[in-house]
Amino acid sequence: MSHEIVEKNIGLMVVLILLVISIGGLVEIVPLFFLKSTTEPVEGLKPYTALQLEGRDVYIREGCYLCHSQMIRPFRAETERYGHYSLAGEFVYDHPFQWGSKRTGPDLARVGGRYSDDWHRVHLNNPRDVVPESNMPAFPWLSENVLDGKLTPKKMKVMRLLGVPYTDEDIAGATAAVKGKTEQDALIAYLQNLGTAVSSRR
Ligand code: HEC
Repeated sequence: MSHEIVEKNIGLMVVLILLVISIGGLVEIVPLFFLKSTTEPVEGLKPYTALQLEGRDVYIREGCYLCHSQMIRPFRAETERYGHYSLAGEFVYDHPFQWGSKRTGPDLARVGGRYSDDWHRVHLNNPRDVVPESNMPAFPWLSENVLDGKLTPKKMKVMRLLGVPYTDEDIAGATAAVKGKTEQDALIAYLQNLGTAVSSRR
């Protein structure tokens, strides 16, 4: 009987549907705000240094994320190849995160420490010099572009606004920390740090 009333009264049905969807939504969404594990950094995670942060910007500018993911899924095939699967708490200082979705090249979530700085230098200048079958583009200009660090403190202030715990000293020393380094130095510093908070624990 009551079912018939609802079915024959479209206005009432719309209101009831909205009610059901909002309760369902609230039940799923509200607990997330109280879940610490998605917002707490994993133990040992440090905010990017000024140089690493500049390297991260180069990574974004050059579109590395178009071919590389930074997200190891909890499957055996992935963990055997790349290491411990990615944890939510590893990305709390990433604004925006670089998880990516396309893997033309390997996942980079734990590439930190896998190769030497020199390997990265050769690889970035011309990937074919170390991996003959590579189809990764060369990025030779990164070793020529020198950072002046003028905007670095500003970038760190924005990150602080987003919740990254930079101190006033970090920000005051930022320009000096990157000035004179090349974009390649910065990018390598960034790559060498990726995933190390967790992988170095094992
Ligand atoms: C067009 C796709 C493409 C782009 C863009 C690209 N790569 Fe790659 N990358 C690859 C492929 C394919 C490989 C595997 C072959 C090799 O090692 O060169 C690779 C390998 C790598 C490796 C070695 C990973 C490992 O575990 O062996 C690193 C580090 C890397 N890329 C960094 C970068 C960075 C940094 C950028 C941006 C400056 C970038 N890549 C842009 C395709 C790409």
